[in-house]
This record gives sequence, C-alpha cells and structure tokens, in this order.
Amino acid sequence: MNILLGVSSGIAIYKAVDLASKIRKEGWNLKVIMTENATKLISPVVFSSVGNCEVYTDTYEIEKGWIIHTEVSKWADIFVIAPATANTIAKIAHGFADNLLTTTALAFNKENKVIVPTMNTRMYENEITTENIEKIKTLGWKVIEPEAGHLACGDVGKGRYPENEKIIEFLKIISEDKPLSGKKVLVTAGPTREAIDPVRYISNHSSGKMGYAIAKMAKRLGAEVCLITGPTCLQYPYYVDSIVYVESAKEMFDVVLENYNKCDILIMCAAVADYAPIESAKEKLKKTHERLIIELSKTPDILDYVGHNKKDNQIVVGFAAETQNVIENGYEKLIRKNADVIVANDAKIAMGSDNNQVYLIFKDKATVVLEGSKEEVAKELLKRICSLL
Ligand code: PMT
Repeated sequence: MNILLGVSSGIAIYKAVDLASKIRKEGWNLKVIMTENATKLISPVVFSSVGNCEVYTDTYEIEKGWIIHTEVSKWADIFVIAPATANTIAKIAHGFADNLLTTTALAFNKENKVIVPTMNTRMYENEITTENIEKIKTLGWKVIEPEAGHLACGDVGKGRYPENEKIIEFLKIISEDKPLSGKKVLVTAGPTREAIDPVRYISNHSSGKMGYAIAKMAKRLGAEVCLITGPTCLQYPYYVDSIVYVESAKEMFDVVLENYNKCDILIMCAAVADYAPIESAKEKLKKTHERLIIELSKTPDILDYVGHNKKDNQIVVGFAAETQNVIENGYEKLIRKNADVIVANDAKIAMGSDNNQVYLIFKDKATVVLEGSKEEVAKELLKRICSLL
C-alpha cells in the first residue's frame, strides 16, 4: 500500500516522525510532503531517514522529470495529513494551492484522504476552524478527531495529536474490504473474576488478546461491534463501537443478555469462570484456619444460553479451550451448547500468547485449521463466518 504523508507545521510534528516510522513498520510504502513552515520545526532529513523515503518540500523541485504534486497524488493509495494545522485545513477547505502540500491535496482525487487536525484548543474551537473542518468533510476528507488533554502551550482542552496507533488503525480500517458491512457483531473477551472476598478472586490466565483481536478485525471488516470484556491489561481496541467492562460471569451473562438479540453474529471468546464462590465474604478473610474450604457453584453458561435461544438468522460462535483431545472436546461443546461453529484451541498455547492455532469446527464436523498471530487468526475466522451469512 502506498501512503503519502503530508506534514504541516503543528508543534506535534515530532509525533509525525514516529508515524512515518510506524507506517514503514507496517510494510507500507511511504513518501512525505512537508510545508516550508514544517521544515522550520524539523529537518526533512529526519523524515527521510526515519521513514527511509523521499521527502518533498518544494513545488518547483525537479524530480526525475516529474511534476511532483500530480505524480505523488497518482502514486498514493492513501493521503494522510498529520499534523494538519488550522492554516492548512483552511487552505484545503477553500481550494488554495499555494504550496506543495495544498497543491497535492487539490490534485488527489481518490477516496482515502485523511486529515488529523492538531492545534491549540482555542484555534480548534474557533468558529472558522469548525466551519473549515465541516467543509473538508463534505469534500470527502475523513477527519480523525484530536484528543483532549494538556497541550504544548500549557492549555488544557481538545486539539492534541492522537496516538499514532489510532491513526494506523484508521488507515487499516479504510483500506479493508467490508464483507461485514451492515452486520452487528458481539464479542466477549478476557477472563472473569469471581470474588472470594473484597481483595481476592478466582480467575484464569486469559489475557483478552484473542477476543480483542476479533473485535478489532470485525470493525476493520465493516461490522458494528460491541465488545464485552472481563478485566485485562490491554489498550481498548480503537473504533470498536461499544465496550462494556465487566468483572464476574454473572455480570457478563447479564450484559450479553441485554445485547444479544440485536446482533447478527455472537462470538463467545471469553474465558468465563465455570465456578464462583457461593458467597463472597464482606471483609478480607483472616488467616485463622489451617485449611480453608470455599464452596463454589456453577456460573451461568452464557454460550449455552445464547446457543439455545438464538434466532434463525443469528450465528453463534463458541470457543473451546482444551488441554487434551482438542477437536473431540470442541465438537462435543458445539453440539451440547448448540453453537454454529466452535473455535477449539489448546489453552496451554493460546492463553496469554500473541499467536494461536485454532480448529474451526462446523456442525457437519468439517474442520479447518487456522494459524498465525491472533489478528491473522481473527481475520480469517471472521471471513469464514461471513460465508455462513
Ligand atoms: O485471552 P487470551 O489470552 O488471548 O486467550 C484466548 C483464549 C484461550 C481464552 C480463547 O482462545 C478461548 O479459548 N476462549 C474460551 C475459553 C473458555 O472458557 O473455554 P471453555 O471451553 O471453558 O468454554 C467453552 C465456551 O463456553 C466458550 O465460548 C466460553 O466463552 C463459554 N462459556 C463457558 C463458561 C461459562 N460459564 N459461560 C460461557 O459462555
């Protein structure tokens, strides 16, 4: 994929250097255009070295006999301007072409053009900037909203440059096909915690990585995504439509019940605790007993409930975390819980790791092996599910 990064002279320009690096790490091709003012803040050599790419600054530069703005605008699949100052946005909104960046913006006629406004809050909230941002949206620019927080000038408010990971995720979303467009997907992820007392709980080693990867990929493939997650240490997946944080199996069950009717595809990846203490002590248990017996009872089985109450047009995908006879035990769960597909995996390999190997088991016993990073597995899994729709 060819990315053209436009850089204007916001003070967040140093973050755009890291964006250049991240774009290259994705394996994408990169070219950079800087405004003259941007070059006063950071040398083009920095972008060229970090991005290992050509950097253009001058409309009248002679490059292999190219007319730069027309050639790079033909070359790029995505044009992203980050940071985009109020001045550059204003020029683009009104069709000015007085430097290489704005000239290229005028010449770029493809769908994927992205702008990351970054400036002081008062400039961002100024009516004219608001109007200009609305105007460029009508011209087809996709705007990544700035974050709120502490700004370089000491002010606090909206205008901060967003995380580069968020920008990269946006670029991935806009460049993917959308086979799940119009579909609502519910994903459960992570472990649950069953309280013993206010400071202790029963849980498992699920990190949430597999479920979060599914939620993220479902969004990239065009779905409206609701993620219901137990406690994890993960960054929430950007652009997922709604995220509900829960602790216990009972809480997860209640939230799934509130939401499952509205969804087309349900993917139960959470490692829900099978048992919970019958009673959770109000105060921290004291170490007064030689032996402590905690009585447990079964938690509600969410997949079982959803599997037996699904509508005809809903697809229910369960997971099976096994440590032996992975395929046989997975198939048994598919039948018992009335799922449409079971994703069986070896819990000892899958839990916590970045990669996974799973067996997709269908009702007719057809089995497909998927292997790779959890994101790769998630994407392939969702594509296979699409074929059932
Ligand atoms: O989170 P990671 O570190 O990335 O690890 C990923 C994973 C190993 C947790 C994931 O790939 C996985 O296998 N998830 C299912 C874990 C599990 O609880 O499996 P199970 O075989 O015990 O349960 C079978 C199915 O019933 C699962 O879909 C589970 O969500 C569901 N279940 C289980 C118990 C319960 N009370 N309610 C449920 O809905």
